[in-house]
Amino acid sequence: MFSIPHLDLPPMRGASGTVQLPGSKSISNRVLLLAGLAEGTTVVHDLLDSDDTRVMLDALATLGCGLQREGGQVRITGLGGQLKVHEARLFLGNAGTAMRPLTAALAVLAATQGGCFDLTGVPRMHERPIGDLVDALRPLGCSIEDLGQPGYPPLRLSGRAGGRLATAQPIRVRGDVSSQFLTALLLALPLVTGPGPAVIEVEGELISKPYIEITLNLLARFGIAVQREGWSRFTLPQGSRYATPGQIHVEGDASTASYFIALGAIAAHGGAPVRIEGLGTDSIQGDIRFVEAARAMGAVVGGGPGWLEVRRGRWPLQGITLDCNHIPDAAMTLAVMALYADSPTRLTGIASWRVKETDRIAAMAAELRKVGADVTEGADFIEVRPPAAWRPAVIRTYDDHRMAMCLSLAAFNPLAGAAPGCALRILEPHCVAKTFPDYFEALFDLASADPALVPVITIDGPTASGKGTLAAAVAARLGYHLLDSGALYRATGVAALWDGVAPDDEDGLARIAALLDLRFDGERIHLRGRDITDALRLETSGAMASRISSFPRVREALHGLQLAFRRVPGLVADGRDMGTVVFTDAPLKVFLTASAAERAERRYKQLISKGNKTTIDALRQDIEARDERDRSRVVAPLKPAEGALLLDNSHLTIEESVAQVLAWWEQRRSFDRGTVPLDKG
Ligand code: DC
Repeated sequence: MFSIPHLDLPPMRGASGTVQLPGSKSISNRVLLLAGLAEGTTVVHDLLDSDDTRVMLDALATLGCGLQREGGQVRITGLGGQLKVHEARLFLGNAGTAMRPLTAALAVLAATQGGCFDLTGVPRMHERPIGDLVDALRPLGCSIEDLGQPGYPPLRLSGRAGGRLATAQPIRVRGDVSSQFLTALLLALPLVTGPGPAVIEVEGELISKPYIEITLNLLARFGIAVQREGWSRFTLPQGSRYATPGQIHVEGDASTASYFIALGAIAAHGGAPVRIEGLGTDSIQGDIRFVEAARAMGAVVGGGPGWLEVRRGRWPLQGITLDCNHIPDAAMTLAVMALYADSPTRLTGIASWRVKETDRIAAMAAELRKVGADVTEGADFIEVRPPAAWRPAVIRTYDDHRMAMCLSLAAFNPLAGAAPGCALRILEPHCVAKTFPDYFEALFDLASADPALVPVITIDGPTASGKGTLAAAVAARLGYHLLDSGALYRATGVAALWDGVAPDDEDGLARIAALLDLRFDGERIHLRGRDITDALRLETSGAMASRISSFPRVREALHGLQLAFRRVPGLVADGRDMGTVVFTDAPLKVFLTASAAERAERRYKQLISKGNKTTIDALRQDIEARDERDRSRVVAPLKPAEGALLLDNSHLTIEESVAQVLAWWEQRRSFDRGTVPLDKG
């Protein structure tokens, strides 16, 4: 959702509630490849829907696998180990979990069945090493050409039909740079065990062993029984064949869970815990052991099959020294938890961070320093001393989902005594789409802040001035919530009609307003479970709203409902009295105007395009009458709020109006090299 240049997080103070985790990236992409290579159809449940799985699905489709989406399930009909397409160019984004195993699988398939496959990715993918895997495959007889820098993608994999691979000798692969090389071989070699078993020998100390456990576990689900001697020798028996398990369920992502476990440890205090669903103590993912590390820092974690619950325990958290080889991805979250500790945290065994989506040691050190931490980094460790004084910061994310998710947790700085207004800006927040496109929405659902510190932009103005369109566009650009307050008055009118309450029965209308069961679902609005979006837009609903909105008790009844929209990360509210009555402390108030003639013309075009019959004159009269009624009513009359900035958009396009409001907002929130923003939000 957040394809926006930056997302401003207000200082947050608490968290509670339930998050449903998206599927594990590692499991999803392994399952997709296995299902794509196996014979028969596999129904995959709870597959992760993200950038990395999308490139894998696209690759499988290009290779001729059958793919069907049905709700949350994907049906994959595999190749049965036989290439259907012999030439293809596959773009794999920045997905290591797609690049490495597809390289191995297509290299052995091309070498035995004939073909030519080019595998490419984004520029960062072309900086991520793959040489050790290539070096393991070439002695087998695979033809692999470096299309760029040797040892890095892009690669060309080719071969002639009828080729034989030298699988009689053990295949040697290094295990100390990325465990994905071994995973890639384990996933690919069952394709060529016809003539005899294949043996893989690992050179060097194998890192990230839990990921190999996931690979072995999933291979077993697809009928491949790998024999393992310690972590150095793996044998794929002769005649191994992938057999689909029919149905397979992807558990929630344990690395993603780490952000919510940390959230609970930091911010679930006093009330309900943070509950995580989709992943439990029975997880097959290595990163589940993040739970132990979080406990060591102070978290209280309970759980069972498919769920975890986390609360704050010790506070402040306590620094730890930990070899993180077993939890390479989730360990990043510990570096951010370290901000909330009362002693330093030293994480070792993390050399692999340097070859991930970005150089994560360097990136983490740079960004933690911005918020005020004192950080030392080395080739394979990071040490974080919590901030003596927190600073507002503009956080770079390096196109790395984990950097964005981790650093968002720094916005709970009031809990560590940061000065009010110590805000955080996350640049390019959409990078979370790699593993959790809705991460920020999920975080905001759980997080709470002092309402006074949640920024609000009010956009008031007369009817048909374009406030609704402007407010929606500004909210989308900032990633903020939207309150169309007119819709509340309109919905009250609709409910009154349904219940037969007369338009002049102030008490009856106020009762309806107080119990308004309204749900905003993206663009759609539901009243008592019924979609009333279209009914609300009718002129008759607007006229009715204008009338009933003059009753003080109706306005009062809707007041609390409007305040409740002020939630993290911020709100754009449009109406008549957003700046004058409801959000009087809003840091930016805009009063939008346009001439009655201009507004009548806009409304005319709108109505005509929908096939309604009317005249410009009639509309103009109606608009002027409504202006007069809204302006002259005793309570909350339409007028610019004190300090409101006037925007006459008679001669502006929507984009120009949006740009003006965003420019005003930026002035108010100057992050000028990390200095304190001008307003208290
Ligand atoms: O913005 P709108 O056209 O949807 O609003 C419909 C009517 O509701 C409008 O004529 C006046 C009333 N209204 C109000 O009194 N206060 C608000 N904050 C919003 C709308």
